[in-house]
Amino acid sequence: MTAISPDPVDLSTRLASAEFPNPVFTASGCAAAGRELAQFFDLTELGAVVTKSVMLRPRAGRPTPRMAETPSGMLNSIGLQGPGIESFCQHDLPWLRNHGARIVVSIAGGSVAEYAALAQRLRDESGISVVEVNISCPNVEDRGQVFACDPGESARVLSAVVAELSGTIPVFAKLSPDVTDITAIARSCVDAGADGLSMINTLLGLKIDTDTLAPVLGGITGGWSGPAIRPVAVRAVWQVRQALPDVPILGMGGIRTGLDALEFVLAGASAVSVGTAVFGDPHAPIRVRDELRQALAERGFARLSDAIGYAHRPAPRHGRELTPEGLDSPADEEMMRP
Ligand SMILES: Cc1cc2nc3c(=O)[nH]c(=O)nc-3n(C[C@H](O)[C@H](O)[C@H](O)COP(=O)(O)O)c2cc1C
Repeated sequence: MTAISPDPVDLSTRLASAEFPNPVFTASGCAAAGRELAQFFDLTELGAVVTKSVMLRPRAGRPTPRMAETPSGMLNSIGLQGPGIESFCQHDLPWLRNHGARIVVSIAGGSVAEYAALAQRLRDESGISVVEVNISCPNVEDRGQVFACDPGESARVLSAVVAELSGTIPVFAKLSPDVTDITAIARSCVDAGADGLSMINTLLGLKIDTDTLAPVLGGITGGWSGPAIRPVAVRAVWQVRQALPDVPILGMGGIRTGLDALEFVLAGASAVSVGTAVFGDPHAPIRVRDELRQALAERGFARLSDAIGYAHRPAPRHGRELTPEGLDSPADEEMMRP
């Protein structure tokens, strides 16, 4: 393995037709619409800002308390509180555009018609790189079943959104890990026209206060995030990359360091989102970007794109020597080709 200097490592990446100078984004719901982070660094330093999921109408969210600590992660039950799409388009989008941020807009709805109306509202807005469709929402037309847990319902949402946005803005489906076979949901979203996939959303969890003898969160259940979920997320990215090797993936779940991000890239992600880590360290996405650049250089990758999905390469042939880190350099890999 031959290390190279980190400076010239090309971090640029693509998600379908959208291009980004680096692959480290915020995660939806963990940096609102970017304003809070702008006091810590220039938002153009990020690959992109992924906005909190916006719904059609203003929404108060779930009862408090809305956050609970767990030994290696966080439970939240915010309930998609927000001002609704009109206010978002009038205030947040122009603010992000004025600050030169690349923008991924996350949308969420309670019915297929709501998702379609959100997409229609965004169609003529400029400066949106990707629309991320958060399908981890209860479907009011189907007894509150979460769209993302049903391949058919996920597909209905994605085709409705793609019908509004096709040819204008790439559409990514954000998948839930709370399913038996994530590749089945991934495939149905792609068959319905999704240009790419984001994964993973939080896992459904519950914490009980052993003093009050009642659930801690006002909403009872909450979404679990943070370092503990990373192996689940990397597994999901790995499985979907194997099933659908040509579909771009935005990976997330417990990323705190550049090496965490590298795991996702090696598993098949073209870009990553940093979520929960931002609450403890607002600079986390920038630090992760710089650490990722360094980690790529140390492993001899001159371009991020060379590392995407690298862990899927065939197992080393018998008798071939691995470095102590267990990786051959990409240059060595070239030489091994017949
Ligand atoms: C407080 C909080 C709010 C979130 N809100 C959203 C949201 O609005 N839409 C969404 O798609 N995901 C939301 N997520 C999920 C994150 O975007 C991300 O998928 C998940 O937390 C895993 O990444 P992490 O472990 O780095 O946080 C939220 C997560 C947290 C912790």
